[in-house]
Amino acid sequence: MQLEAMPPVVRLTHVSRTYQAGALEVRALDDLTLEIPPGRFSVVIGASGSGKTTLLNLIGCIDAPSAGAVEVCQQKVAELDDDAVADFRARNIGFIFQTFSLIPVLSAYENVEYPLLLVGMPGPERRRRTLAMLEAVGLAAQAQRRPNELSGGQKQRVAIARALVKQPQLVLADEPTANLDSATGASIISLMRRVQADSHTTFIFATHDPQLMSHADEIFAIRDGALLEHRGSAS
Ligand SMILES: Nc1ncnc2c1ncn2[C@@H]1O[C@H](COP(=O)(O)OP(=O)(O)OP(=O)(O)O)[C@@H](O)[C@H]1O
Ligand SMILES: [Mg+2]
Repeated sequence: MQLEAMPPVVRLTHVSRTYQAGALEVRALDDLTLEIPPGRFSVVIGASGSGKTTLLNLIGCIDAPSAGAVEVCQQKVAELDDDAVADFRARNIGFIFQTFSLIPVLSAYENVEYPLLLVGMPGPERRRRTLAMLEAVGLAAQAQRRPNELSGGQKQRVAIARALVKQPQLVLADEPTANLDSATGASIISLMRRVQADSHTTFIFATHDPQLMSHADEIFAIRDGALLEHRGSAS
C-alpha cells in the first residue's frame, strides 16, 4: 500500500490546551486541526513558547486537551482510561523529552532496557536489543554509567536509545539534537533515518535545528498555538 493511501498516524481536531497560571489563563494551543502522515519525518517549528512541547505531550498521551479530539494510531485517546492509555503509550510511542527524563538511579543500560521490561519482553531478547541499541548510539562503553556520570550529549543519546529500543510505531522527540555537536547530530539523524526505512516508523520532532529541519518530509509551523503553515509532500 502506498504511504499516501494510509490513514494519518495523528489526527488533531479543533484541539485547544489552556493552562491556568494563577489568575491568568494561558492558551498554549488554540483550535489546532492537523493530520500527520505515517512513516515520515515531520517537524514542528515555532518560536519559544509557541506550543511545541504542549503539542507533543498531547500526541504522546501524557497530557489531555482542554477541548477537541486527539487520535493517535487510529485510537481516539479520550476513549481510553488511565491504565489503557499507559499501556497504549508503552506499546506504540517512544518519547524523547526536552529534558531527557532519564531515571537517575539506573545505569545507561538499565534506562534503555526499561521500556522493554514494561512490555514484558523475555530476558535474552531484551539484553540483545538493549546492547544493540547502545552500540547504535555509540554508548556501548558507557553502558554501566548513571546519568550524572554522562555528558549532556551522552544523556541525550541514552534518551534516544530508550525511545527507539522497543521499535514503536511513533517516535516523538522534543529538540532531539539540541545538545549534540553537528557530527553527533548527523549520526543520530542517520540512525533515525535507518530505523524509519527499516520499520516505517513515524518520527515527529519539535526543533530549531536547521540540520534536522533539512531532513523533514513535512513541516508544521506554529505560532501562538495555531497552525501557521504546513509544507509537505503529502499535503
Ligand atoms: N505547566 C504550564 N503552566 C502554565 N503555562 C504553561 C505550562 N506549560 C507551558 N505553558 C505555557 O504555554 C505556552 C506554550 O509552551 P510550550 O512549552 O508548549 O512552548 P514551546 O514551543 O515548547 O517552547 P520552547 O521552544 O521554549 O520549548 C507558553 O506560553 C508557556 O509559558
Ligand atoms: Mg518546548
